[in-house]
Amino acid sequence: MGVRFKGWGIGLPDRIVTNEELSQTLDTSDEWIAERTGIRERRVGGSAVSLGVIAGRNAIQDAGLLVGDIDFLVLATTTPDRLCPASAPMIANELGLNCASMDVNAACSGFMYAVRTAQGLLETGNRRILVIGSENLSRWVDWSDRNMAVLLGDGAGAAVLEYDETGTDVLSFVLGSDGSAADLLTCEHGGYFQMDGKEVFRRAVRVVVDSAEQAMKIADVSPDDINLVIPHQANVRIIKAATQRLGIPMERTVVTLDRYGNTSSSSIPLAFFDARQNGRIKSGEYALMTGFGAGMTWASAVVRWSR
Ligand code: COA
Repeated sequence: MGVRFKGWGIGLPDRIVTNEELSQTLDTSDEWIAERTGIRERRVGGSAVSLGVIAGRNAIQDAGLLVGDIDFLVLATTTPDRLCPASAPMIANELGLNCASMDVNAACSGFMYAVRTAQGLLETGNRRILVIGSENLSRWVDWSDRNMAVLLGDGAGAAVLEYDETGTDVLSFVLGSDGSAADLLTCEHGGYFQMDGKEVFRRAVRVVVDSAEQAMKIADVSPDDINLVIPHQANVRIIKAATQRLGIPMERTVVTLDRYGNTSSSSIPLAFFDARQNGRIKSGEYALMTGFGAGMTWASAVVRWSR
């Protein structure tokens, strides 16, 4: 039995905030941000619900399905519109879905955790699951704090996963978490995101490399077999360091953080969508999807596209 990725969609706010614009109010520069992170601009606006609705609707349409075909909605978000209720039921309501729905919070690994959750739900009788990553990180950014303000952005991405008893796109999955590192990247109630950037960087490279190597081993593929890496988009230097250690050239890696910054749970589906639009997703080819984030959490999967 298996899981097929059937349709994809994204939702982005219209408002673009460039590094130049941030430099007008913060002690920073386009040069510093671009060189140290790879980010040039980010989108700002919307909410986890409003952006998630757009991405979800687009994914259902892309899959050629109707809302009635969806059995379950799993929303990955670190920034739900409210602490309670969860944002997933509100998205489901606006989309006209008549099914179970819930939020998953695994920070920037959220989309991967949601896909893994959906895989389990497909094994227990559901047929089609809408998985959305949607974030409104800008709401929890102190815009006078250059450490965080230059990094984060808003956006949403979604996929429809379908049960298939004849085969699977998902060949392996490795997930992990380490709460002893919880204080490295936090957002307290009523507060703003704060981070020990250097330590997060160091650990991020390590967990991406370790989990990706395990995922490739389980899938019985080598770095040479991986046609495309779809990594979480936090910092291009993290992506370069990890792919270099994995022995996969940067030309085979998707980078979208220059346009969107770090969008947490949304970054992997946004990157996937970009890759597909650029003709980089090809039937029969292998991809490594890998994410890490606050918690710390991490997740890597090897997939082989069937469509
Ligand atoms: N603009 C301009 N200068 C800045 C700056 C900014 N936004 N932020 C820091 N600086 C300065 C520092 O004050 C320091 O100055 P100094 O040398 O005079 O002391 C200098 O730039 C270097 O700072 P440092 O913190 O060493 O930079 P860095 O190369 O480690 O980059 C991060 C900082 C945050 C970009 C980097 O550590 C990072 O990306 N970490 C991982 C973050 C991440 O991925 N988080 C999300 C996980 S999902």
